[in-house]
Amino acid sequence: MVYKLIRSAYLGSKDYMTPLENELDGIIAIHDQLVLSSSVPVKSLWSLNTWHNPKILTIDSINDGAKKLKNIQRNWCLYSYQFHRRAKLIQEKLPYVSAKPLSFPCNLPTSPMGSWTLLSENQILASSNCSSLFKNGEIIFEENKEGPPSRAYLKLYETLTKIEKLPKPGDFCIDAGGSPGGWTWVLQKLGAQVISIDRALLDPRIASLPNVKYYKGDVFSIKPSDYDKVDWLFSDVICFPEKLFDWISLWFESGKCNNFICTIKFQGSPDYNSAKKFLEINGSQVMHLYNNKHELTFIHIDKK
Ligand SMILES: C[S@@+](CC[C@H](N)C(=O)[O-])C[C@H]1O[C@@H](n2cnc3c(N)ncnc32)[C@H](O)[C@@H]1O
Repeated sequence: MVYKLIRSAYLGSKDYMTPLENELDGIIAIHDQLVLSSSVPVKSLWSLNTWHNPKILTIDSINDGAKKLKNIQRNWCLYSYQFHRRAKLIQEKLPYVSAKPLSFPCNLPTSPMGSWTLLSENQILASSNCSSLFKNGEIIFEENKEGPPSRAYLKLYETLTKIEKLPKPGDFCIDAGGSPGGWTWVLQKLGAQVISIDRALLDPRIASLPNVKYYKGDVFSIKPSDYDKVDWLFSDVICFPEKLFDWISLWFESGKCNNFICTIKFQGSPDYNSAKKFLEINGSQVMHLYNNKHELTFIHIDKK
């Protein structure tokens, strides 16, 4: 294998490697979840962590490996697909990096996190510049087993943490496809006023929370003209990407809402073209979150 040609590497989610591979050019090798490419790094929708500047370090011992990594920077995260024991011994000689689950709401880490792996017993592939500040792109939160009625709240935790912006107390939020109420629960806890819209009922514990209103019906019948101003539009509706795109386009055109967080759901294999349409909206981001399933997250945030 021609490892010296590696110019970028991408760590994907275990269950969503195919859409990641379809996005990339110059693939040299795939080692479990790590894709090595001879092309310059590209912005990938399905990568959990993109290694922007991978380089090979030749090492002659465990100590030498740790020393060479430490000479580059302090924080390193191992992605191990082979020589697990040797890799673990090198990692143990590196400065400790906390693996404690995050307590939401929280700030992003301030120090860069590099990633490395063993390509052979005496070759480390190391990238000091990676797209994620979290170990292998995994954003793990302390879970709340009592409050939210579904685990969907974790993807909203992840999005709000990544964008470094939260709805403010009193902000008016629409939570489209809100049942059973995980996202509504997060927003209510942050002090927002939430209208949760779904064909299915909200969990009664969520529906009875202060500042939560529930509207039973078809989300797509709700129009911008029904409201004067909406601070945030959230959608986790299960629908075709095109349907979501058309609906949020109405909101963009109306100018009544500036903050959007929407899940783009796929049936069968993810369709790159429909995801691309969302990216064409000026200032938007589309990404696969660690806590996403067969879906991407569309984000458009007013930076003010
Ligand atoms: C993944 S669930 C939402 C989970 C929710 N975000 C939470 O945190 O608990 C998707 C929801 O979309 C709703 N849904 C699908 N199509 C809809 C439509 N046209 N109008 C309203 N709700 C819809 C479903 O009833 C379902 O409750």
